[in-house]
Amino acid sequence: MQYLDLDKIALKEIPKISDPDGRGNLSVVEKDYLPFVIKRVYYLYDVPSSSTRGGHAHKQLQQFLIALSGSFDVVLDNGKKRRTITLNRPDRGLLIPSGVWRELENFSSGAVCLSLVSEEYSEEDYIREYSEFKLFKSA
Ligand code: TYD
Repeated sequence: MQYLDLDKIALKEIPKISDPDGRGNLSVVEKDYLPFVIKRVYYLYDVPSSSTRGGHAHKQLQQFLIALSGSFDVVLDNGKKRRTITLNRPDRGLLIPSGVWRELENFSSGAVCLSLVSEEYSEEDYIREYSEFKLFKSA
């Protein structure tokens, strides 16, 4: 099993079109921007600051997270190490490959987490027990 190199994780810049007349910004994710075909889009919102989302890994699914509004922290765990990355800009996103444990926490008031994902929803693809994740990574 491969371990994601957490030191190589960088937020990916999303193309931004700033309006020349000061009417604000527009960011766009086009077909070839991500290393997967988007099969599903969902978003988290109204998350209390004391709550944690995620707490699982995926066997196949890859996803791209964007803080459309506000901020939150993503804790990534590759099975050996953990790294926390703050998402707080709508023109930067975090690509999470398959086989990575993630926890989302410290949601600011009004935070919205957009998730672009490579698979349709399937509970079979989730690893929801950390002990099972460790076994999965050491297999
Ligand atoms: P889950 O993926 O555990 O949320 P998070 O990682 O943000 O904490 O999903 C929460 C619940 O919503 C769970 O019962 C599964 C359901 N769900 C769907 O039915 N469809 C979906 O596309 C997603 C993402 C979740």
